[in-house]
Amino acid sequence: MNILSIESSCDETAAAIISGNPENGTPELLSNVVVSQIDIFKEYGGVIPEVAARSHLEAILPVIHKAFEEAGFKKNDWNKIDAIAVTHTPGLLGSLLIGTLTARTLAILHHKPLYAVHHLKSHIYANWLEAKKSIPKFPLLALVVSGGHTQIIRMQAHNQFEIIGTTRDDAVGECFDKVAKILGLPYPGGPSIAQAAKNGNPKKYKFPHPKLTAPARAGNNSSDHTDLDFSFSGLKTAVLRKIQEELGLPLNHPSYDLKNHLSDEQIADFAASFEQTAVDILLENLEKALAKYPDTKSIVIAGGVSANERLRECATAKFAPNIFFPEPKFSGDNAAMVGAATFYEIASGVNPTDPYKLNILPRKDIS
Ligand code: KG4
Ligand code: ZN
Repeated sequence: MNILSIESSCDETAAAIISGNPENGTPELLSNVVVSQIDIFKEYGGVIPEVAARSHLEAILPVIHKAFEEAGFKKNDWNKIDAIAVTHTPGLLGSLLIGTLTARTLAILHHKPLYAVHHLKSHIYANWLEAKKSIPKFPLLALVVSGGHTQIIRMQAHNQFEIIGTTRDDAVGECFDKVAKILGLPYPGGPSIAQAAKNGNPKKYKFPHPKLTAPARAGNNSSDHTDLDFSFSGLKTAVLRKIQEELGLPLNHPSYDLKNHLSDEQIADFAASFEQTAVDILLENLEKALAKYPDTKSIVIAGGVSANERLRECATAKFAPNIFFPEPKFSGDNAAMVGAATFYEIASGVNPTDPYKLNILPRKDIS
């Protein structure tokens, strides 16, 4: 079967076509088109949701047409598409609306089943896109690290998710973005920090690791997992304070001005020390989770921050050969991963969504 998948949760408009037999095969990628809005948002230093939604509106149909073309299909070869998949949550509301409304309309118009897919699930399934090499084995632990989420998820089988650790405040990607801003590095902050860190000393500055105790989440029974939770807002503030201290400036010195006082060497050292601390915090919790679940057979890292080379190196040093990363081009937002997630949803017997009722409101679970 061929699945057309669509992703528009933040600032990438993407479409892909995945092919294969969910009953006994693996997903094969026929096309993968991503149009990024990074160049627009570089000027502003961050995403403006209203502008993102408008850009999706302009790009979405050309991107879908390109995905058809790359797959060797004609523009109107809808008979070759067996299902349509779309990211329905979490994400920016206006951005999600464009993708979901497009997918719903196409599904109704062309009489195709519609699959509404959770964005984090898709990030995890980016690890099954190169299925012909080795694939992750269950039970597994997934470390999902993106601009909006930082979670450890245990999967005992395809399409079964248990969140065993989550951030109580900022996501790690958000922390990269905010620290980059303080250091005067361009948006998006993650890749800029990684680039600047290459020339820096990761041991130059010491930052504290969060110690979390009190149960965090009301309304569910996961309090026994709180030692696997994350907190990144303190790290961002620790970097800010250390820069002020290093420059001999008072605590109330505005953060936006600090970059004007930092040398290139200081920026590189701060970037490297911050990056190393963030990676160490992530991997410490992953090690704790591994100790808690000794039957774990694979660890998969997923989400935009999984592109980070220091994270890849340190995780590989600790967990090889049972560690999996997506190919770097599938780390950030793309539609191929949505197709892969849908492929395994269909394999697990998940029913399509009613296109007339698709709900895009944020949900706490990952199903
Ligand atoms: O998954 P993603 O593309 O979008 C969301 O679902 O949020 O993740 C975006 C996040 C941003 O915070 C970005 O700065 C971060 O991933 N990121 C990185 C790297 N590349 C992207 N963080 C650290 N190192 C990188 N190389
Ligand atoms: Zn994402």
